[in-house]
Amino acid sequence: MSRKPFYVSTPIYYCNDIPHIGHAYTTITADVLARYHRLVGDKTFFLTGTDEHGQKVEKAAEALGKKPKEFVDGVVTHFQELWETLNVSNDRFIRTTDEDHKEVVTELWKKMEAAGDIFEGEYEDWYCVHDETFWTESQLLEGNLCPNPWCKRPVEKKREKSYFFKLSKYTEPLLKYYEDHPDFVLPEFRMNEVKSFVSQGLMDLSISRSTINWGIPVPGDEKHVMYVWVDALTNYLTASGYLKDEEKYETFWPATIHLIGKDILRFHAIFWPAFLMSAGLPLPKHVMAHGFWTADDMKISKSLGNRIDPTELVDIFGLDAVRYFLMREIQLGADGNFSYKAIANRVNADLANDLGNLLSRSLAMTKKYMDGVVPDKTAADCKMANVCAQAEADYQKAFDNHMPNKALVATWEVISYANKYIDEQAPWVLAKDDANKQELADTMYNLLEALRRIGAMISPVMPDTSAKLLAQLGLESITVNGDTLGNWGELEPGTKTQRGESLFPRVDMKKVEKLIESKAAEAEKKKADSKAESKTVEKQEPENIALVEFTDFTKLALRIGVVKTAEKVKKTDKLLKLTVDTGEDRTIVAGIALHYTPEELIGKKVVVLTNLKPRKLRGIESEGMMLAATAPDGTLRLLTTDEIIPAGSTIG
Ligand code: MSP
Repeated sequence: MSRKPFYVSTPIYYCNDIPHIGHAYTTITADVLARYHRLVGDKTFFLTGTDEHGQKVEKAAEALGKKPKEFVDGVVTHFQELWETLNVSNDRFIRTTDEDHKEVVTELWKKMEAAGDIFEGEYEDWYCVHDETFWTESQLLEGNLCPNPWCKRPVEKKREKSYFFKLSKYTEPLLKYYEDHPDFVLPEFRMNEVKSFVSQGLMDLSISRSTINWGIPVPGDEKHVMYVWVDALTNYLTASGYLKDEEKYETFWPATIHLIGKDILRFHAIFWPAFLMSAGLPLPKHVMAHGFWTADDMKISKSLGNRIDPTELVDIFGLDAVRYFLMREIQLGADGNFSYKAIANRVNADLANDLGNLLSRSLAMTKKYMDGVVPDKTAADCKMANVCAQAEADYQKAFDNHMPNKALVATWEVISYANKYIDEQAPWVLAKDDANKQELADTMYNLLEALRRIGAMISPVMPDTSAKLLAQLGLESITVNGDTLGNWGELEPGTKTQRGESLFPRVDMKKVEKLIESKAAEAEKKKADSKAESKTVEKQEPENIALVEFTDFTKLALRIGVVKTAEKVKKTDKLLKLTVDTGEDRTIVAGIALHYTPEELIGKKVVVLTNLKPRKLRGIESEGMMLAATAPDGTLRLLTTDEIIPAGSTIG
């Protein structure tokens, strides 16, 4: 099979944050894919980097009294150092402040403009003066309030001149492209999500800002800077050598796979291909959206204090154990839950027991029965060779489908079989009788050869462990053969093995329990601190809590309601249209679609303000407001009541 060049990218990470396990997951996955492709001899290019422009960064820098560039120069080192710690083998670390990137983005803009896809218009949206942020109507809280949970001040309508990209023109071309390339977005269910979103019709996209300075200027109108996503997405093209290195560009563009988290799928599966179509450039072959990690089943967030620090994990469990855990625990595309117990169990069961013991038992027996030297090759037909061949075929198929988790499962087929083989062959029994000399030598050869193959198979995920394992077998490097992982029987008889330290010491579960306790205490303390902080804020701003007369309160007609129907409002991702029985059926449009699915709302008892002036949202008249509160993780939870209280009951 002739193999193709392989170009994998991670998202470029925002420079206003410290990296956590989620960022590490994406980058390690890309690293593993890149290492596999290098292993089988593909020309490989692996890109990661940082997204350094935009309002977030501008503000974060301002808060510290720093110039934006000075600020990002500091933050970027956190990412670069982490990737070194995690043994990430990226070929380039791109920064959107790099000169070549600015040139490419400017050129892309010009191409889209030449195609007639950029026009000047006016961007009209809701503006929060306090937060200096534009919000779309669907994002606002009821009563036209700023949706930032720490703000909630009234917003005003503002207009800003802006350039727009004719995204609407690409609705049909994109749908056709998806139809012709059903594996453009992976996994398949994500492709379906994208298709159904696009089939509702796309709206033109505002792609410049005149109220922000920190960005790449719009060619010909320097008062504007480009929308940060136009700038950011183009990083993939810049790094391919576009405009600079024709040979590199011809080799690697279009990219094979943009690896991203599910949170940014729409930008990659809709905007990016539309920009490229407009500029007349080839589209990436795949966009793979992976799932999200939670920590002990909770969203990872600053306020919960549960951000898992990858460097700390490496200190506790070792680098390759962390890399293995992240790759093995979840299938690419699915969500995963991190817990210290789960990683400790994986280390003990899969790494220390299955893999570590296999190597140490095999080498101990080689020493005892073969003087530590690889015996002559076996002439006998060998089931181990077949197990390896089958597992390697599965392994390669898995990797060619970008599925490291399945590749590890295939690798463990060999490891499990080899462990079983030792028990069945019982070399210690064979060694008792000279008549079994040949069988004993065959057994040891088969085991050592299987270990050599395992050494190659684990190398993309655990490069250091692979090197250690091979060194103990007396080998300097992996030998691969063309696009296969090599042939059975390439381990040279006479090779001197060198039994060394165990690959993975067992993790002491008592220590893990203690670690969990101390982490829980830390998180509790953080929560208490942040509660205390928010109380102080309330106290500092008493003018926000105006006192009302009881008679004013009685003007509010609060009722218990039961949700009877719920559905998404088309063309928004925030709004749900509900029928709520509050003694009579009323329609309520609520901005809660990111927090509740329609299904989970049916039958729910809620608290409704029924005499709020009706208001039209997306053409639907909303006749009331459901009361809700923001949880510490930022999600919105509806207020509810006891089962016994019927719909229509008055509150007050
Ligand atoms: N700058 C944009 C991306 C531009 S790409 C042209 C951005 N940056 S980000 O810093 O917010 O990084 C988002 C990415 O981090 C996600 O897409 C995902 O790859 C990773 N993760 C962040 N939190 C995560 C989890 N909890 N779990 C898994 N990965 C997550 O968006």
